[in-house]
Amino acid sequence: MIPSSSSADRPASNNSRESEVLPPGEGAFVSLAPMEGVVDPIVRQMWSAVGGIDHMVTEFVRVTDKTLPDHVFYKYSPELKNGGLTDAGTPVYVQLLGGQPEPMAENAFKVFALGAPGLDLNFGCPAKTVNRHDGGAALLKNPHRLYDIISAIRKVVPKSYPVTAKVRLGFEDKSLVREISQACSEGGALRLTVHARTKVEGYKPPAHWEFIAIMKEVSKIPVIANGDIWNLEDYRRCREISGCTDVALGRCLMARPDLGLQIKAETTTTRGLSASAWDWPTTFKHVQLFYQTNLDLMSEQYAARRLKQYLKMLANSHPEALEVFAQIKRLHGPDEILHELQQVPELSDYLQISPKAKGDLPSAHI
Ligand SMILES: Cc1cc2nc3c(=O)[nH]c(=O)nc-3n(C[C@H](O)[C@H](O)[C@H](O)COP(=O)(O)O)c2cc1C
Repeated sequence: MIPSSSSADRPASNNSRESEVLPPGEGAFVSLAPMEGVVDPIVRQMWSAVGGIDHMVTEFVRVTDKTLPDHVFYKYSPELKNGGLTDAGTPVYVQLLGGQPEPMAENAFKVFALGAPGLDLNFGCPAKTVNRHDGGAALLKNPHRLYDIISAIRKVVPKSYPVTAKVRLGFEDKSLVREISQACSEGGALRLTVHARTKVEGYKPPAHWEFIAIMKEVSKIPVIANGDIWNLEDYRRCREISGCTDVALGRCLMARPDLGLQIKAETTTTRGLSASAWDWPTTFKHVQLFYQTNLDLMSEQYAARRLKQYLKMLANSHPEALEVFAQIKRLHGPDEILHELQQVPELSDYLQISPKAKGDLPSAHI
């Protein structure tokens, strides 16, 4: 497993009570939405340690016509060596992407047999190559294909085993939202996450939460709202419009790692949590830890790339991140990056990473 940072290293939470005291399942269900090339094992480990997240998903495992060997699943989900949980105990479902019921069922059984706490089916990926090869959002054109895949999987895994699906509102238009929702529910999915846009709409705002309400109405399974929930105010509006208390957060949780905590506090009135958002210094401490963890576990180039990616995503909520990004965008090595970061006077107080810290953390198993 990936080493977890000690609590002393973690940014202090602004919340009056630590997330650890909140039992899993308390308040709204909050999922970290899958993001290829972003939500890797390090992100899952670190975001899980922040708290306020009930559920996570691996990057997608592409299924064609074969049953994949075990090592592929362990690569995507090192958490399988820990019962499918992060160190902080968040369940990590394995995400499968493919269009053929039989191989999907065979691989689903493998995921189950390897001990993953659940399985998530990707019916929303907009990538051209994926869609050309009969996967992701292309399947939304024919909702019966979702039904065929889910029901084939249902036949090979135990009835209670969590098989969940993630969809968009359609491929070109939203005319099939009811059929898509029913196909997942009747096929035997346990939960349905809806990214409130069509494939053609890509990531263009706004997300159309009102269509989630229609899908919820015809669904017999819990529906999770997703798309453009950037802050607590968005969460409240999305809940009102979609009728869903439960949410999946993708880019939004990268832009505000504490948003899950805020939503939990909002929906757990009896526990007296406060919902104050992380300020920039607290967030910057998380950036430091993120860079340091990546430096320790991965190559310097990878760590630099991930730092830049994280800063750009953070800039959606913290404009300060863009200033830091501008300072380091052309740099690759830790010495250069640290030197440049220290030139930003208002940040130097918060900057505690030293190249000597490399190796201080336990080594990686990913
Ligand atoms: C870089 C990136 C990669 C993504 N990869 C996946 C994926 O592998 N599977 C999936 O179902 N959705 C994927 N998504 C979609 C997100 O899970 C989510 O539905 C979308 O970003 C909207 O939620 P947000 O506004 O909270 O980001 C991806 C999104 C982004 C931006």
